Amino acid sequence: MSFSFIKDKLAQQQALNLYRRRSPLTIGTGRYLQHQDKQYLNFSSNDYLGLSQHKDIAAAFKQGVDTYGTGSASSSLITGYSCAHQQLEEELAEWLGAPRCLLYSTGFSANSGVLSALGQQTASQYFLDKLSHASLIDGAFNAKAKTKRFAHNDVAQLAKQLSTSTAKDTLIVAEGVYSMDGDTAPLNAINDLALSHNANVLVDDAHGVGVLAEDGSGTLSAQQVAKSDHIIQMVTFGKALATQGAAVLGSEELIEYLINHSRDYIYSTAMPAANAVATLASVKVCKREHWRREKIAELTRQFKQQLDSSIEITDSQSSIIGVLTGSEENALCCQRQLKNLGFWLSAIRPPTVEKGKSRLRVTITVNHNAHDINNLANAINEVLGKCLQNN
Ligand SMILES: Cc1ncc(COP(=O)(O)O)c(C=O)c1O
Repeated sequence: MSFSFIKDKLAQQQALNLYRRRSPLTIGTGRYLQHQDKQYLNFSSNDYLGLSQHKDIAAAFKQGVDTYGTGSASSSLITGYSCAHQQLEEELAEWLGAPRCLLYSTGFSANSGVLSALGQQTASQYFLDKLSHASLIDGAFNAKAKTKRFAHNDVAQLAKQLSTSTAKDTLIVAEGVYSMDGDTAPLNAINDLALSHNANVLVDDAHGVGVLAEDGSGTLSAQQVAKSDHIIQMVTFGKALATQGAAVLGSEELIEYLINHSRDYIYSTAMPAANAVATLASVKVCKREHWRREKIAELTRQFKQQLDSSIEITDSQSSIIGVLTGSEENALCCQRQLKNLGFWLSAIRPPTVEKGKSRLRVTITVNHNAHDINNLANAINEVLGKCLQNN
């Protein structure tokens, strides 16, 4: 094959302990996952509320297939938009406190779709948190708008950048819950800044929706941020809601603009209607079953308490906890040893996180119990010390 850099790039990944491999699983969701006939306790899943096996959601999915078929067969602007999509949009808008909602097939395309559609002019400017998800970074850098990054959750630096900006239209981009650290953005402070500089705010709440706020309506609600037309929310369905796809929520005008100008929305097959039916069922379960949020909060408290105090963890306010290992080698060593003990965890390495900040990403879900948490904390206490000593 031409593109001779491919060989070099792959060799470089190997040499730097950054090579990525996939593991085909026979069972990939739930308390246990199964790989090559062995069973592991699953601490790598974003199925925070344990809904991927919920009988009401599964039944809704099947009924959706019976009614609408397996695929949507077209873009939303042709024949791909069904009453099921419309119903889900209306339900989400009400739950998340926004005037309107638009469904995308993935969170990645929702983020890149919004940022490229809004960033049409070089006179506009985006301000992105340093830890922004790849889809936000790609969306921003593919737009004509200029982009600045501010240090993670550093509102003072953001204030400085805003005060020296001469851009006509500005958008601050933050995540409700950061996916690799599990900490939250200071959304009230960010919103106050936005209001005083006539800026807009995009909150990617992929990991907050379903998990935070009493009714699961996410980080903005949990922090009691007053919602108004300058706030855009993006939520995904593939994590706590246990289906697939995403939604953008905002003003009437914004949604009409996206329907007319977001290339990711217009030139892509709509998500299957059955997926929309299942997601609607999932939102209903999520709103009513408060005990799921209470359980993950309790298990997360327990996990943090049982880890040795010498172990460095991220400043998490969610059920995502980063256990810092430093080097890539250490992260891989811990992952391997924990796997030998029957735990499945992901070693997170650059470029997903900064060099020197490799980690094990622990996600605690409703599927776990106190015994699992105890066993994991003890295993990490044992394994981390050994790996850090040997490398
Ligand atoms: C913060 C954040 N935003 C967006 C996405 C993309 O969402 P999706 O998986 O639906 O494409 C993810 C998923 O990895 C994420 O963690």
